Amino acid sequence: MRDTYRREINYLRVSVTDKCNLRCIYCLPPEGVKSIPHDEILRDEEFEAIVRAAALVGIRKIRLTGGEPLVRRGVEDLVRRFANIPGIDDITLTTNGILLPDHAAALKEAGVKRVNISLDTLKDDRYREVTRGGSLASAWKGIQAALDAGLHPVKLNTVVVRDFNDDEVESMARLTKKRPLHIRFIELMPIGTCNKWTEGRFVPAGEILDRINRRVGRLHPAKMAEGDGPAKYYRFEGALGTVGFITSMSEHFCENCNRLRLTSSGGLRPCLYDAREIDLKTPLRRGAGDREIADLIMEAVDLKPDRHHMDEGWTDKKRVMSQIGG
Ligand code: GTP
Ligand code: 5AD
Ligand code: SF4
Repeated sequence: MRDTYRREINYLRVSVTDKCNLRCIYCLPPEGVKSIPHDEILRDEEFEAIVRAAALVGIRKIRLTGGEPLVRRGVEDLVRRFANIPGIDDITLTTNGILLPDHAAALKEAGVKRVNISLDTLKDDRYREVTRGGSLASAWKGIQAALDAGLHPVKLNTVVVRDFNDDEVESMARLTKKRPLHIRFIELMPIGTCNKWTEGRFVPAGEILDRINRRVGRLHPAKMAEGDGPAKYYRFEGALGTVGFITSMSEHFCENCNRLRLTSSGGLRPCLYDAREIDLKTPLRRGAGDREIADLIMEAVDLKPDRHHMDEGWTDKKRVMSQIGG
């Protein structure tokens, strides 16, 4: 289906839980957020009904997000339900990796093709700081589990924050030379939860690319076989992995936007930035069929704005990043 700006919308990001086993500084405020009451979170069959309706109007690709999607009990069952829906041909997952050692093989078996894993630093103390207590060794075990389970390509998400991890971009980029890892440097977005810690610490992707070109070696534009997300990819000569950039702020990619977002409580968001949501839970719970839900999905598509305006500030007072799913 196409939106009013003639963009083809075929990708649905499904936040399967608002809960997370980490508390990243740029994602959650220090006091945490109140979790959504259990009965407001969609049940497996409700997620399935929405994805079935979405497939009717052209959604082909599903990405499970959170919070942390792997803290939802029985997440593999949910994947299996999605995998059985005609028209859904790509199921992926974005995770912090901590629980992957227990889930990678089962996820693959259930129908997940590949995973994107957050990794902001290669230093233990910094990892503990940015995640408010997480263990870097556990995250690495998760990354290894994804590689071992064949969830390729394994992409790493690194949000770059000035004077926190900007001195690590060279060592992180080097990781791609000998290992089939695809690191993506993400520009920090001024989402509501960004607090004092992130103020004034934005690093433009151009600066990172420049720094890597000068200090590590020449990066050549490259194609990434899997995924039609917003990253632009490069490769060192002969490297097994790639280095990508997600320029949400310095060069937004909204004109190519192909996605909708579903929150764990059944709100369909036309855009990451846009606080408007179409409520799918209420109609579902009063018995709406696939066609009615599909019509509501089309309404959300029609609401998609031409672009985000995060440069003018974040206006959503209701949700934080962990409730939207990145
Ligand atoms: P693939 O290309 O399929 O691998 O996925 P992806 O890059 O779309 O997925 P992922 O969940 O790893 O997203 C990476 C990051 O890109 C997110 O954490 C966001 O920071 C950013 N991002 C994803 N979607 C959007 C979007 O619609 N708008 C903006 N501004 N940023 C986005
Ligand atoms: N800016 C950019 N990326 C963010 N993420 C979370 N908060 C922000 C932000 N303010 C990213 C995480 C994770 C993904 C789900 O969202 O690093 O990789
Ligand atoms: Fe959890 Fe991801 Fe938010 Fe970190 S960025 S607190 S891992 S949802």
